[in-house]
Amino acid sequence: AAYDAGEYDSFMYKEMLEQPAAAERVLRGRLDERFGTAHLGGLNMDPRETRAIRRVKILGCGSAYYVGQMGAALLEELARIPADAEAASEFRYRNPVIEPDTLYVAVSQSGETIDTLLAVQEVRRKGGRVVGLVNVVGSAIARECDGGIYLHAGPEVAVASTKALTNMFLGFALLALQLGRVRDLSIADGKRLIEGLSRIPGQIAQILEREDELAEVATRLAESESLFFIGRVRGFPAAREGAQKFKEISYRHAEAYQTSELKHGPLALISEAVPTVAVVPDDELTSRNVGALHEIAARRGPLVVVTHEGVDLGEVAAVRIDVPRNERELDPILLTVPLQMLAYHAALHLGHDIDKPRNLAKSVTVE
Ligand code: AGP
Repeated sequence: AAYDAGEYDSFMYKEMLEQPAAAERVLRGRLDERFGTAHLGGLNMDPRETRAIRRVKILGCGSAYYVGQMGAALLEELARIPADAEAASEFRYRNPVIEPDTLYVAVSQSGETIDTLLAVQEVRRKGGRVVGLVNVVGSAIARECDGGIYLHAGPEVAVASTKALTNMFLGFALLALQLGRVRDLSIADGKRLIEGLSRIPGQIAQILEREDELAEVATRLAESESLFFIGRVRGFPAAREGAQKFKEISYRHAEAYQTSELKHGPLALISEAVPTVAVVPDDELTSRNVGALHEIAARRGPLVVVTHEGVDLGEVAAVRIDVPRNERELDPILLTVPLQMLAYHAALHLGHDIDKPRNLAKSVTVE
């Protein structure tokens, strides 16, 4: 084949390792250090049109939807525009109100996902403006949009998406930077984020280098029939994506929950047999998150904590995975990368077909 996994055991593994290079490609030529902004010519929007945007609605399916949630948070934080993500597969069925001052963003690796494509068509039929964050050049969704940002992740073959998702996050960061700088984001903050973005590829590489340690943790997690992935605010979409990846290829029941919602129900399920992977970045919620870890530990729930160096987990017995620090807004992607490795090594340990998990297709092109 023109493109094969070569020396690697699977495409997923190869594609995970390609992330630092892929991340460099999506950023290349798009960062303007002088003005602390991003250049995204493909959006086809001038500053006046950009300023007129009152709201952003992000549409994608599965993991693209979860990264869309990360993107919405970036847009709200950096550009101060109300933003949210919705599963594209649900969108058109609720007869959505399409507003002229809303920017719709379709996000898709393949550019062929039928639910996302139909959502884009629904918006356009009602006169809305849609831009795409798409990996495959010239794909159906890319062609249907008014403009967009190509993700330049390169071909992605494994059903479990990795490098395309990372580049989606970076694409959202570029979009938020550009929208932010046309609005109220200061030049200093713009430069701060550019500096942070340029460190991301190297930091992803640092996480990937810790494969042995992550493989050991994954092997233990693979023994459990059921797991929780928890996080809140910036950490929650990462938890959702971690659970998604885990269930796709390890076939374990992996459920994502907001840490804050645990005590409203799922805490009843915590026991020695049900491990929790907790995403606990160093942010304004750390101490509350650590409080929740205590609740889990008190019920003898095994804990794996993805966090930052220096975060004090108190007396909680947990396996910790420290990720490198960057600007807080950019944390979600660095918190997600170790979760890919956990899913991959769990599936490998269980002897599953990594690239072609049962019941799933790389892109879902029929309704
Ligand atoms: C990711 O690991 C999944 N296989 C799946 O959720 C995927 O992200 C979703 O089907 C959307 O695909 P797309 O990005 O090609 O539109």
